[in-house]
Amino acid sequence: MQLASDFLTSPRRIVVGVSGGIAAYKIPYLVRALIKAGHQVRVIPTENSLNFVGKTTWEALSGQPVVTGVFDSAADVEHVEIAREAELIVIAPATADLLAKIRSGRADNLLTTTILAATCPVVLVPAMHTAMYENAATQENLQVLRERGYLIMEPETGELSSGDFGKGRLPEPAEIFNFLYQKPTASNSAAETVPVETATKQLKGIRVFITAGGTHEAIDPVRYIGNRSTGKFGVEIAKAFQTFGAEVTLIGANLTDVDIPPGTCVINTPSAQEMFEAVMEIAPQSQIGVFAAAVADFRPANTAEQKIKKTGGEDETLTLELVKNPDILASAVNRFPHLITVGFAAETGNAEQVAQYGREKAIRKGADLLAVNQVGRQTGFGDVQTQLTILDATGTTLTKFAGSKAAIAPQLAALVATVFARKKRS
Ligand code: CTP
Repeated sequence: MQLASDFLTSPRRIVVGVSGGIAAYKIPYLVRALIKAGHQVRVIPTENSLNFVGKTTWEALSGQPVVTGVFDSAADVEHVEIAREAELIVIAPATADLLAKIRSGRADNLLTTTILAATCPVVLVPAMHTAMYENAATQENLQVLRERGYLIMEPETGELSSGDFGKGRLPEPAEIFNFLYQKPTASNSAAETVPVETATKQLKGIRVFITAGGTHEAIDPVRYIGNRSTGKFGVEIAKAFQTFGAEVTLIGANLTDVDIPPGTCVINTPSAQEMFEAVMEIAPQSQIGVFAAAVADFRPANTAEQKIKKTGGEDETLTLELVKNPDILASAVNRFPHLITVGFAAETGNAEQVAQYGREKAIRKGADLLAVNQVGRQTGFGDVQTQLTILDATGTTLTKFAGSKAAIAPQLAALVATVFARKKRS
């Protein structure tokens, strides 16, 4: 079952059900976005969830009374009324316990009662610890609910509130919003057809290296030419490959503000030349190379041994001679035909220009996959979202991803897994 793509183009009466998971803190943003988009939102929290977000917040945001129990309200028929009036019900986070209750038809509070009495579409957004999510009971509950027509949004793979890493994280509110609006997101893109188990089978023990961060090209001992890349996306990709069981090496340029996942082998390569050398050394023993680093195209022809001093007056100028850095990705593609390569291209301009630059770069670089990112565009609301168009070496579009970097990274890694498996077979 799917919501029609134009379902939310008219104002709707939406019930947002919140069950007791720590991720409940994200839902006020979703409620606000739905209201901003013109919908009337009624929040039904479970009693437990009020430990995470209180009644007053929901009442203030939705402008509607907030009740948790069936008999809390003067009108004791309220549960049926809410269910009858609702045009869409969204449950986020949906805990393992709530899923079990919905499956077995329990009606022990206002939320479960409303769900049981509802005839409108119901979207479930599960969020829980990976072990609970992967438990056969939860998986069976989800399967049964799916068969009964509930619409289920997959949880994200990422860091959990427990500090563990795995599948079960509540998607960002922007992604839930996009999911409801049927916009392309990481969760409903073509690559979702690759289940985690399959990607894990394909990548277990496979050696993957990822270049990440922005290179610094030294002018003198204290100054450099650099760029604004933080390396966050590269690190998310490293995490995703690790989750799928790959042996990951991060070849990082100046990764200072990012959390490197424990167990990741890191080679620090501050400059393009050092990164080039590290890649050339590691590529022969690797099966997959992801080139997420922002590599300076040029470096100073000479690095001064001492700090460069001002010598003249106001009109003094300084000219730096720059020479070209090696193209690490293109060199790897040429020298190591066994390697599956993934390049990135951040392009500016309108959608058509970006597509054109992307196609040209895909052909020029020859990587198996090129992820083209239109820089400066926002999707959904709130956080800046990443939009990636994935091209093959001929410049043909394979798929599109949108969402947070943490959400896209596992999708991209899963797609690389299928390309790897296909190349291995051929
Ligand atoms: N790249 C690389 N080595 C370089 C430059 C780029 O490995 N010296 C990789 C990047 O990591 C990225 C891809 O090539 O995966 C595209 O980077 P980009 O800077 O967009 O490409 P350029 O070839 O520098 O093209 P442009 O002329 O648009 O700057």
